[in-house]
Amino acid sequence: MDKLLIKGPAKLSGSVEISGSKNAALPILMATLLAEEPVKLSNVPHLMDVTTTLHLLGSMGVGIMFDDQRQIEIDASVVSNLEAPYELVKTMRASILVLGPLMSRFGQARVSLPGGCAIGSRPVNLHIEGIKQMGAIIDVADGYINARLPEGLSRLQGADITMEMVTVTGTENLLMAAVLAEGTTTLRNAAQEPEVTDLAQFLVKMGAQISGIGTDTLVITGVQRLLGVCYSVIPDRIEAGTYLAAAAVTGSKVTVKKVEPQHLKAVVEKFREAGADVSCTADSITLDMQGRTLKPVSIVTDPYPLFPTDMQAQFLVMNTLAEGQGEVTETIFENRFMHVNELMRMGANIEIKGNTAISS
Ligand code: UD1
Repeated sequence: MDKLLIKGPAKLSGSVEISGSKNAALPILMATLLAEEPVKLSNVPHLMDVTTTLHLLGSMGVGIMFDDQRQIEIDASVVSNLEAPYELVKTMRASILVLGPLMSRFGQARVSLPGGCAIGSRPVNLHIEGIKQMGAIIDVADGYINARLPEGLSRLQGADITMEMVTVTGTENLLMAAVLAEGTTTLRNAAQEPEVTDLAQFLVKMGAQISGIGTDTLVITGVQRLLGVCYSVIPDRIEAGTYLAAAAVTGSKVTVKKVEPQHLKAVVEKFREAGADVSCTADSITLDMQGRTLKPVSIVTDPYPLFPTDMQAQFLVMNTLAEGQGEVTETIFENRFMHVNELMRMGANIEIKGNTAISS
């Protein structure tokens, strides 16, 4: 689908079940490379990046089967090709997530460098540095990361690693690198996003030893092997938040079901500040904007548990419709305001000052 035609104004109503989280499913799919037995995954969303990931795993010789309950069985007992080629990585940056598992289990990997992307240069230096600290020899040539173990070493070595920035996929890559390494690895300044926690819990279920899950310090003691399990991916907090934002801008009432409200705490707080009536149960959130007026809010994006960058654009749209001045400050990516010019073409009044979008 390369075009969506939307005829407004419209009111929304009813409820919608939220899919599994894309950003949790991708690292978990990559982590199946660590297991010597088949793994069964459920609640994996049906979307392009998942298809690309399955394609990537398939190109490595991994067996993939779907059952009638939409579960995916992945058998990485035999992996015949330890490379992620440019043709796949250029379509999906998260392909870099094969580096950690391949180095952890096989001590060898060749992964294309992701190119630049629309929201900034997005380097992967912290992924590379961390794996080097674990004893790997890495050279970057012809657009590829070539990683191997030095002679005499059969496994990565545990290390004490402090990441200078909070990076979600960086933390995930190093976590996966550490689970089969020799000795203990400490990851400091680790990302605490629910998707990192979901990956850690999946790894623990497969037999990994990880403590500090959900905090900024992960301590991983390497084990000999990881085994096959069944695992269900967490719900997508960004998809849920986006439906709620759609209810907010259309003055509607919508319920998102099969969600984890705890993961949306910072977002729900901002919806309330914007004038919405929001109520939660154990696994649903209802946002009611009927008869209410949108108020402008000030938002600063930050690593979890603070306000997520992936909800920034949605709140900027809400601010353009609210009466008064609202501000959205982006601190994670250097160029994440491409939507602003498009909104201005639709009549929005927005000024960008540095990394802040001010709407009035
Ligand atoms: C992940 C999410 C993405 C989300 C982002 C921030 C996935 C597949 N994608 O992206 O949806 O918007 O987290 O929550 O999970 N950085 C470096 N060097 C590195 C790694 C990162 O400088 O080696 C910088 C990045 O350029 C960026 C910041 O760190 O400025 C955070 O990026 P990071 O958390 O790594 O984002 P992703 O993991 O790519």
